[in-house]
This record gives sequence, C-alpha cells and structure tokens, in this order.
Amino acid sequence: QSIQWFPGHMTRTKRQIEKYLKQVDAVAEIVDARIPVSSRNPDLDRLIQNKPRVILLNKSDMADAAATKDWVVSYQQQQISAIPVDCKSGRGLRAFQPAVKAALAPRIEAWKQKGMVGRTIRVMIVGVPNVGKSSLINRLSNGSHAAVEDRPGVTRANQWFPIGKGFDLLDTPGVLWPKFEDKVVGEHLAFTGAVKDDVVDTEGLAARLLELLCRLYPDALRARYKLEQADFSQLEGWQVLELIGQKRGMLIAGGEIDTERASMMLLDEFRGGKIGRITLERAGKVR
Ligand code: G4P
Repeated sequence: QSIQWFPGHMTRTKRQIEKYLKQVDAVAEIVDARIPVSSRNPDLDRLIQNKPRVILLNKSDMADAAATKDWVVSYQQQQISAIPVDCKSGRGLRAFQPAVKAALAPRIEAWKQKGMVGRTIRVMIVGVPNVGKSSLINRLSNGSHAAVEDRPGVTRANQWFPIGKGFDLLDTPGVLWPKFEDKVVGEHLAFTGAVKDDVVDTEGLAARLLELLCRLYPDALRARYKLEQADFSQLEGWQVLELIGQKRGMLIAGGEIDTERASMMLLDEFRGGKIGRITLERAGKVR
C-alpha cells in the first residue's frame, strides 16, 4: 500500500484535529523508526502544542536497534516519552498504556484530588499515511475496530473505540501528510516504499539510497552484495548500483548492466529488510 498524494485537504484535517484535541487527554503519534523525521507531519507540533504526547517508533523490527535507542533518549531529553513498537507483530505495545499514563501522571493525580477516580483516558492517534496506524489500531483493539482508510475527502464518523477499561482511542480525524515538498523527506519516504514508485525515478532513487547506505551501513551493504573489494569512498551511487547489477548477473543484450532491474531489486530488498535493520535518520543528526 502506498501513498496517493492529494495535498488539498489539509486545512480541513487541521480543523478537525483542533476540534478533537479538546476532547482528548493525550496524543499518540506514530512514526516510522527508520525515518523518524521524514515520517512526521510538519504542522503537528504546532497543532498539538502542549498536549501530553507519546511517540510510537513503529516498524522497529526493520530499524537499527541502537539508533532507535538513541531516538528514545533524544525524545526523553525533550520530555517526550517514546516507545519502540512493531505493530505488525504487536511487539512493544504492552508499554503503550503505561507510557500514556506516565505522560499524564500529573493530570491523573489532579483528577484523583478532585475525586475523579477511574476517569476514562482519551487518546488521539495521529500519523502520516503508511506509518502503521491501521496496524496499531487493529492490534490495540484486538481486531475489533478497523481503522478508516487514508482517503481524503471522506468524512469520518465518530472514530472512538475502547482498548481496555477506562481507555479510549480516537482514530486520526483526517489525513496528515508528510513534508513531501522537501527533497530529502520525499526521498526517504520513497526509499521505505511510502511513496508510489511510478512517480519517482527508480534508478536515481536507488543510487541515492546506495550513497546513504555506503555512508551509514557499509558492512551490511558489502555483505549483502558481496562487495568486499569495493572502496565506497571512491564510488558514486550509480557505480555501486552497476557493481551490484554485475554481481547479480543482471545484464541486457550487448552485455550492459540492467541498472533498472538492479534498482528495483535493491529497493525491494531494502524494503523487505534483506540488507539489514537500517535507520536512515539518526537522533541529533537527521541529514
Ligand atoms: P497506515 O494505516 O498508517 O496507512 O499504515 P498500515 O497500518 O496500513 O501499515 C502500512 C504497511 O506497513 C503495511 O504493509 C503494514 O503491514 C506495515 N507495517 C505496519 N507496522 C509495521 C511494523 O511494525 N513492522 C513492519 N515490518 N511492517 C509494519 P503493507 O505492505 O501495506 O501490507 P502487508 O504487507 O502487511 O499486507
């Protein structure tokens, strides 16, 4: 499933979020642990302002565990609690309710003082398309609630649903887009498969990904494509792509390397986690 980009409906989504924010105690923002910056909506911080927030670093099964840990620490330093999760398998989700309660501790204490014991905690789930919202909602509700599809222009009915005693979630009221217009963001989303391939130049994309991998994960890249001899410091992305095509015997008539096929294979393998657990954006140094 990939993003269909319809930029027009942001204003309405923002209005909806502002409206529903008044009804929730906290916001749970789900991001892709491999690209925690690019997989965010650029207006969200301003929209949710001081609402207590928990960040779910999803797809942590495909991200570099050490890098994910650094992200958790970095969020902690900003007084935001973040938890690594894998909404496909459900790993890490046991920490969800405790993390929300911790973020709300002063409020829960204040409710107690006022005699509001057992008040229901209400949390809004937000995240850009493809980040794993449906998977999260499906897991947390044990399959009893289907998330609304990311379809702009479709009015959403009441999306509240309980996930346990005294704990209600609200599905994102609208579609929150990432910052597509930023070239790096667009590329990082495309690497992870969040943007449709037919709208991007596959070979250029593969070459860019290889440049990043040569810098961040040279050993994993060497091991996967048997490039032990390659000196990445002397090679550009497209040259590494040719080496990979050669190693895999991807040739077209005349003995030339089929770089188009090599590109698709590389992107597929990256997205399938075959090159390893990889995080493209590091805490503190995003680019
Ligand atoms: P969305 O509602 O935010 O748009 O995201 P959704 O849950 O539909 O997830 C988008 C894709 O990401 C799905 O893959 C989903 O299975 C996958 N995904 C979600 N969470 C995780 C995770 O923690 N780890 C991994 N590895 N994948 C995750 P898909 O290709 O669209 O579908 P499918 O392959 O699962 O059938």
